[in-house]
Amino acid sequence: MKLKDRVALLTAAAGAGIGQATARLLASEGASVVVTDAHEGRARQVAESIAEEYGVDSIGMACDVTRLDQVEDVVNQTLNRLGRIDILLNNAGTNRPAQVVDITDEMWDLVMNVSLKGTFYCCRAVLPSMIKQQFGRIINIASTAAFMGLKAGHAHYAAAKAGVMAFSRCLAMEVAEHYITVNTIAPSFIYNEFIPHLYPEEEIKRMEEAIPYARKGTPDDVAQTVVFLATGGEYITGQTICVTGGSWMR
Ligand SMILES: NC(=O)c1ccc[n+]([C@@H]2O[C@H](COP(=O)([O-])OP(=O)(O)OC[C@H]3O[C@@H](n4cnc5c(N)ncnc54)[C@H](O)[C@@H]3O)[C@@H](O)[C@H]2O)c1
Repeated sequence: MKLKDRVALLTAAAGAGIGQATARLLASEGASVVVTDAHEGRARQVAESIAEEYGVDSIGMACDVTRLDQVEDVVNQTLNRLGRIDILLNNAGTNRPAQVVDITDEMWDLVMNVSLKGTFYCCRAVLPSMIKQQFGRIINIASTAAFMGLKAGHAHYAAAKAGVMAFSRCLAMEVAEHYITVNTIAPSFIYNEFIPHLYPEEEIKRMEEAIPYARKGTPDDVAQTVVFLATGGEYITGQTICVTGGSWMR
């Protein structure tokens, strides 16, 4: 129970991937968790099941991270109901694969706004309370796509994730004196139920075969890294930790 008395706020935490797995692992360490997601019904369901399973405070709330009013509302409600926010996981990200010549303004704006502007909105909203309490762990989810590129069609996604890394490094420098750490996790291929809808079967097989650790990455692999940064990681800030099973080494 390394996180007893800590409060974690997570974005995009009602899906089948990294967000929900992290909410569950943080709760298993005793943290109160605020499960937010663009899909309100699922956020509430996930929060209820976490409260039941782990016996922690867990609240589910609607939050589309591109909506400033919703971001500010969940932060205010969390502070009113749970008193503090110690851990912020900026997990929301989306992709609309298309070659650059076919990327519309709407696709570009959506991909940028969910990953990059959403991360900025959430950080800006929680920082005053973290500065006041002189403690915080901010963890932003990027992607190895920002380093290595992906096959055609992911330029806007990779650019958004590179932006998340650069933003995190600058913020880490700004807030270090308040004992707030800001780190980025860059996963490579993390398997979840949506992957078969996103990539052809042979592409999935090719990606799996390229992993030295000889198994698919799971949402739990990323969740464990978040818990590591949230529980310890006192002197680690401004870093990008790649969770790749060795398929990308810096
Ligand atoms: N899955 C991978 O292989 C992989 C690899 C590298 C990086 N990532 C990144 O990891 C993060 C999590 O991805 P995941 O695939 O594990 O899915 P996930 O289950 O963690 O997230 C999916 C959830 O995001 C929510 N969502 C979508 N748009 C939103 C918005 N505007 N505001 C709030 N919530 C929103 C959806 O409702 C859904 O419930 C993303 O940032 C993604 O870019 C994923």
